[in-house]
Amino acid sequence: MKLVIDTEARTLDRVEGDVRTSLPLYSDDAFEAIADLYVKVGWNQKYLYTFSWMGRPIIQMPDDVMRVQEAIHAIKPDLVIETGVAHGGSLILYASLLEAMGEGHVIGVDIEIRPHNRTAIEAHPLFKRITLVEGSSTAPDIVAQVRDKAAGYKRVMVLLDSNHTREHVAAELEAYAPLVTPGSYIVATDGIMAMVADTPRGKPEWTEDNPSRAAEDFAARHPEFTLLPEPPTPFNESTLTRQLVTHWPQAWLRRNG
Ligand SMILES: C[S@@+](CC[C@H](N)C(=O)[O-])C[C@H]1O[C@@H](n2cnc3c(N)ncnc32)[C@H](O)[C@@H]1O
Repeated sequence: MKLVIDTEARTLDRVEGDVRTSLPLYSDDAFEAIADLYVKVGWNQKYLYTFSWMGRPIIQMPDDVMRVQEAIHAIKPDLVIETGVAHGGSLILYASLLEAMGEGHVIGVDIEIRPHNRTAIEAHPLFKRITLVEGSSTAPDIVAQVRDKAAGYKRVMVLLDSNHTREHVAAELEAYAPLVTPGSYIVATDGIMAMVADTPRGKPEWTEDNPSRAAEDFAARHPEFTLLPEPPTPFNESTLTRQLVTHWPQAWLRRNG
């Protein structure tokens, strides 16, 4: 596929084989084509590895950070559980939102919390709202530990951002979805893998082996959850109807009720 952008004629042409489709450059459809490529090339160039939140690196697209903020503000969870801690930026993000809202705790699970990351997370002023659990997110003793710690919370939201294979995410969904309270979410992040499978850093098997597939399988097995195409947007004064810039497509599973 070729994209031909003519800024003087204000057109974007998509050429597939012999078929050429011309779009006005300043249109939602042209923005969608540009956004898809921006996400794809940006993923390959590790654009998401250029951000931090209150001093800790956060490996997320800013657009997804905005959406998760909107969801946390709407749900007002008193417990956020995340698998996949890395440098801790996303834990600090959730803790900062809960701190601003005056209530709530965060549990972060990672198979390996490197000593320099642990030291920095534990030294952060928001660590008072965070519990770290070290071990594989699907190991029965780790799942049991998190379940024990989650007991008694009233509004629980879960984000899965650890090992992104379909099999691992499927196991995480089964382990942690029972903790999610009605109206809240379990989010299988990084379904972007399907879209970037053919990039230089991607792998062909990712077209099927990815978190979105695990979320779709889970939704088919669990009618108590609905897989949303994207999270609700509390504000939208544009004509755009899709969230075009995200690494979390087919990710948001809402517990019904
Ligand atoms: C993409 S990073 C997490 C990024 C982080 N959530 C953020 O937004 O900055 C993935 C993390 O998952 C962890 N991980 C990989 N396999 C895991 C497993 N089986 N259980 C728990 N954590 C795992 C890795 O050690 C790594 O720190």
